[in-house]
Amino acid sequence: MQRTFIMVKPDGVKRKLIGEIVSRFEQKGFTLLQAEFMTIDREKAEYHYEEHNEKPFFGELVDFITSAPVFAMVWEGENIIEVSRTMIGKTSPTEALPGTIRGDFAFCKEENVIHGSDSLESAEREIANFFDPLKLRDGKADY
Ligand code: CMP
Repeated sequence: MQRTFIMVKPDGVKRKLIGEIVSRFEQKGFTLLQAEFMTIDREKAEYHYEEHNEKPFFGELVDFITSAPVFAMVWEGENIIEVSRTMIGKTSPTEALPGTIRGDFAFCKEENVIHGSDSLESAEREIANFFDPLKLRDGKADY
């Protein structure tokens, strides 16, 4: 069983898409392990987006993700990393297919509603960045 980090970004929260997104993951059969409504500080945001720190849009990316609350979650399920990436859709709205979360709701790549980890390694790193390991269930839902 895999775990992944999923985050409804500030634009998704403002547009009241939390319920829709949680519902899609529940309907797919995945299990919510942890969730928190939070405002991210710059240190956490810069660590989260570290792989993009040389890109010209890095500053704007950090400004955006720290600008308003996000809804951060840990989800569990079979092959959830790959499956959730498919459910989320491509970064660019011109490539995100209808039926995917970004394909249905996002209209620009700078503000594209949702983030999902792209590998097992990123998932563990991202979960540890946003959630206290002592409060995290040990990777198994108890319901
Ligand atoms: P995500 O895949 O969650 O993580 C990296 C983010 O960088 C990506 O979502 C986009 O929202 C953002 N991004 C990608 N390309 C650009 C760009 N050219 N300008 C601003 N943000 C971008």
